[in-house]
Amino acid sequence: MCELIEPGPDRYDECLQVLRDGFGTQVDEFGITPENDPDYPCFWPSDRIAVLVARPTVLLAVEQEGRIVGCCFVGPSRRDAGAWTLRHLAVAPASRHRGCGERLVTEAAARASAAGARLLRIGIIGENVRLSDWYHRLGFVTVDAGQHYGSLPFSVDHLELALDRTPSR
Ligand SMILES: CC(C)(COP(=O)(O)OP(=O)(O)OC[C@H]1O[C@@H](n2cnc3c(N)ncnc32)[C@H](O)[C@@H]1OP(=O)(O)O)[C@@H](O)C(=O)NCCC(=O)NCCS
Repeated sequence: MCELIEPGPDRYDECLQVLRDGFGTQVDEFGITPENDPDYPCFWPSDRIAVLVARPTVLLAVEQEGRIVGCCFVGPSRRDAGAWTLRHLAVAPASRHRGCGERLVTEAAARASAAGARLLRIGIIGENVRLSDWYHRLGFVTVDAGQHYGSLPFSVDHLELALDRTPSR
């Protein structure tokens, strides 16, 4: 069972480790390096979480037996007043397949909805079909696929969740 928390600065290092472990599984699979994607969470410097939280963005995490095992960031879109964006969702490999990822997505959607947003947006690795299938099961729809940005070694798909419905399988 995962318990949802909003970690304070004293636990940012723990979240950073979860992001490094969680996104680490993607690095080999999709050929991600500090050169082609320097802002990928695996390569973040130690102060990156504090910078994001100051934007403003909410850092959400899930705990199991007192340890943070997953986290994500959610906050208002800088381009669209009616939308919020979910970013950098990761669950540590040893804690996957127990609903922690879904718990984080559900809470992110609830926070966005409570703030009056009509959409929750996310950008994902387009080649990660397993991931897009999962988001589709949670109610997201793909609105734009196969975009290429700068030196990124993968394409990006953009997905949206309409917030008049809650994510559900
Ligand atoms: C996507 C992710 C957060 C899901 O976390 P989780 O706690 O396992 O999520 P849940 O238990 O709620 O749901 C599990 C489902 O996630 C889906 N999934 C998505 N990406 C997956 C991946 N890379 N490996 C395994 N399952 C994945 C599967 O459909 C899985 O279903 P299953 O348990 O029946 O096999 C986790 O796999 C992860 O951290 N992946 C790497 C980072 C990433 O790609 N983040 C998304 C950024 S947009």
